[in-house]
Amino acid sequence: MSPAAWWSNAVFYQVYPRSFADSNGDGVGDIDGIVAHLDHLVRLGIDAIWLSPVTVSPMADHGYDVADPRDIDPLFGGMPAIERLIAAAHERNIRITMDVVPNHTSSQHPWFQAALAAGPGTEARERYWFRDGKGAGGELPPNNWTSVFGGSAWERVVEPDGNPGQYYLHLFDTHQPDLNWDNPEVFEDFATSLRFWLDRGVDGFRIDVAHGMAKPADLPDAKEGVKVLSHSDDDPRFNNPAVHDIHRGIRKVVDEYPDAVTIGEVWVLDNLLWAEYLRPDELHLGFNFRLTKVGFDAVELHDAIENSLAATAIYDAVPTWTLSNHDIDREVTRFGGGEIGLRRAKAMVMAMLALPGTVFIYNGEELGLPDVLDLPDEVLQDPTWERSGHTERGRDKVRVPLPWSGEEPPFGFSSSPDTWLPMPADWAALTVEKQEADPHSTLPFFREALQLRRERDEFDGTGLEWLTASPDVVVLRARGGLLCVLNAGTEAIALPAGELMLASAPLVNGELPPDSAAWLA
Ligand code: GLC
Repeated sequence: MSPAAWWSNAVFYQVYPRSFADSNGDGVGDIDGIVAHLDHLVRLGIDAIWLSPVTVSPMADHGYDVADPRDIDPLFGGMPAIERLIAAAHERNIRITMDVVPNHTSSQHPWFQAALAAGPGTEARERYWFRDGKGAGGELPPNNWTSVFGGSAWERVVEPDGNPGQYYLHLFDTHQPDLNWDNPEVFEDFATSLRFWLDRGVDGFRIDVAHGMAKPADLPDAKEGVKVLSHSDDDPRFNNPAVHDIHRGIRKVVDEYPDAVTIGEVWVLDNLLWAEYLRPDELHLGFNFRLTKVGFDAVELHDAIENSLAATAIYDAVPTWTLSNHDIDREVTRFGGGEIGLRRAKAMVMAMLALPGTVFIYNGEELGLPDVLDLPDEVLQDPTWERSGHTERGRDKVRVPLPWSGEEPPFGFSSSPDTWLPMPADWAALTVEKQEADPHSTLPFFREALQLRRERDEFDGTGLEWLTASPDVVVLRARGGLLCVLNAGTEAIALPAGELMLASAPLVNGELPPDSAAWLA
């Protein structure tokens, strides 16, 4: 690890492009929408954008189904738009990291279309996982693997002769066939894409399903009862040891560009196994999702932080912290919703920002947005909804467009009232415009917290020490002497001596009330 690397203490902001801002009035966010609102991100005080996929895609999984990894989808503005974004962001000292999706392509990718047309036993099929079915007529899938979005992970194709034939593997939607990374062409093409974007000024990549890609050669059955949108460490679909060679190959390419960073989405729970992805010749950073799993509970918070630090310490990597993203329920909702949920979310954010390492904020978090739980069935778009047989509503509730201004939907997000997901009328109170005018709202709080994190010496350094870890209260001393107190109990508590820098809620008689946090120097 290089302690001086720009990303080792950075604040990343995830833009989910469909939902951030729409510049052309089609109801879907786009890249020029981001350009138009870059100053919001400057004022927020972030260092880098993680841009969820904007490459060419039929949008079966909103861009995580890539049909051309080296071009920008017209829906998002095409190549000229990303060139504008990279230039405008760099002018403002904001780095751009792009999402790349190595585990699978879109079913519309020319490779997959060629594989379908070429038929069984051809080289074209060797780029994916085509297998004959089981049973006399091949009417059963090759194994029992399920798709993360529900249903079987195998889809049977109609062969060029018009008859039902082989199956292909898709760990996600049917429109996302898994690539066969045993085929060297797959790596070569991915390396070409990485260089393509790095040459255009991109500062790094978030690697989707970084614990996927490699599969066990014999594709053994998984144990039964795997849940939709989750898996365990002994699941043969993920975390195959051969994935580490792939990461070493990726790292070699990225190292041709000295400042570039890779951040892997690594859903692996065991610390030793997780840490392997952060060996010095693999990923620079790995998402650690433990903070997304804790309740508003001092013991759970303490344990999640300790656990994450222990995991990153194994190979001396930089810790990363995140409370939510486009796949995970927003923390305001997780912590109880409404006023209490927001109070707790703000307290948790302060705990997160106190920690040494790199932080990821999900767009809308700075506004205290909750999940939208009452989206009507007919607007749901996450493939999980269909594939789970309408038992899982999926992730649309965390992807509703951001409210910018005005009194009614679409709140300045778009010039069209017909936004890709409807926006709740009561978000009138949560617009950027409203919050900018209200010093006690969530947005100014975020700005101040990030400014302190950036400017005060107390945030320098990488240490962390627990002063109190009781069932109700966490007091930690981190970095250059920062004290962070979080009150998860039911009584107000006295604060330790020191200069109060920020509190997530007003003190009551000089004490820190429940469901809040404070920073002291
Ligand atoms: C990752 C993404 C998720 C996507 C999936 C398939 O988990 O974060 O949004 O659906 O990969 O690409």
